[in-house]
Parts: sequence; C-alpha cells; structure tokens
Amino acid sequence: MSTKGTSDARGAENGARKGSADAKRAESPHGTNALPEHVLDEIRELPARYPQHRSAVMPALDLAQEELGFLSPEAMSEVAAALDLDPGYVEGVATFYTLFHLQPIGRHRFYVCTNLSCSLRGSSDIVEHVKSAIGVREAGEVSKDGLFSYEEVECLGACEYAPMMRLDHEYHYDLTPVTITSLVAERRAPLSAAAKASRSRTRVAVPPDKAPPKKRAPRTKKIG
Ligand code: FES
Repeated sequence: MSTKGTSDARGAENGARKGSADAKRAESPHGTNALPEHVLDEIRELPARYPQHRSAVMPALDLAQEELGFLSPEAMSEVAAALDLDPGYVEGVATFYTLFHLQPIGRHRFYVCTNLSCSLRGSSDIVEHVKSAIGVREAGEVSKDGLFSYEEVECLGACEYAPMMRLDHEYHYDLTPVTITSLVAERRAPLSAAAKASRSRTRVAVPPDKAPPKKRAPRTKKIG
C-alpha cells in the first residue's frame, strides 16, 4: 500500500528515529517500546505458514505495530531476532512500506482511498469529514484522545464500491459522512468485553488479496 503526500512526513518519521540524540523518543501508549512475550510467541509461529521464512516479516511487523501502536527500534530488533532475520532487512521493510509507522499513530486508523474512482465519487469530502469527526488538521496527526489518525492512500482494489476506505482491518464501502460519524462514535463508546475480544481477533498484516470483490455484497468487509 502506498500513500499520497506523505513522503515529507515519512522522511520526518525516519529522521526522528535516526536523528539527534536530544530528540524526544517516541513512546508507546503502553509505556514500553518492547514487545510482550505472547506477541513474540505469535511472531515465532509465523514462518511455518510461508514457503520462505522471511515472508513472515510483514505480518510480524504488523503484529508488533498492532501491539505498540508503531514500530519502535526495539520492536524491530525483537522481530528480527524472533524470525532469525538480519535487523537491517527488517528495518528496510519497515521503512519502505508506508503502512508501517515509526512514530505513534492513533489507535484506530482511517486509510481513505483518494485514487481516481474514489476521487470521482467524493473521497475529498470523505477526507474532510474524517478530519472534522476525529478533530485533526492533517494526515498523520493523532487526535487529542489518542484514538484516531488518518491517511490518504492509493487504490485499495475496491473501486466499484467507491468511495471506500479501510478502518483498521475492515473495508467500508459506499461511504457517506453519516457512515464516518457513526464509525467514529462507535469507537469512542466504551467497549464491552465481547466487543474487545472480537476486535482483537481481527489482526492481519495487509489485505491478503487486493482484487475487488466479484459480487456486490456486504458494505463492510473484514480483511483476513
Ligand atoms: S480508486 Fe478507490 S478503491 Fe480503487
């Protein structure tokens, strides 16, 4: 997945991580930049699912990011150790793909497609509504409550459902301002234990198949 207009921000992210010693270190909302053992266990199990064990790097980084909210240098080192990969390779993957974040982002991330089909069907209005609903001025900014951030992304492979977006690990189609308002309100509401458990089971790295759905079906699609 790639994003628009984020190269400067990306450079700043990378610079922040590699930059001057007096720069403030980013910290996970959990107060630690290291991965807990249960996440490392999950990561260690990933290579068995792939013909080449290094293919597990993206889902592993996604698990790490899901846990911490971003990829800290410690987390990248731990992923490399857990997968028995060169740390430089893991860092290279993390810094190449814009879906990986080297600085904290919101707990819930809107990835609004602004490519051609979505643009023709009003994605710019959707972006403006997302910004207003979560209270941020620009892509990558985290809302004051720490719950949300958004990005504009290239085609997510569901053009016939434009305008569409990915919110965390779900695709949402035929978007309207009402949809956005409702999704934000749902995530601001306190979660029941069952809902928390359900959301925690939706973790995946990236859309496993970017081909658009063959038939018009549900308006919301869980990825994975
Ligand atoms: S242009 Fe938005 S999903 Fe393809």
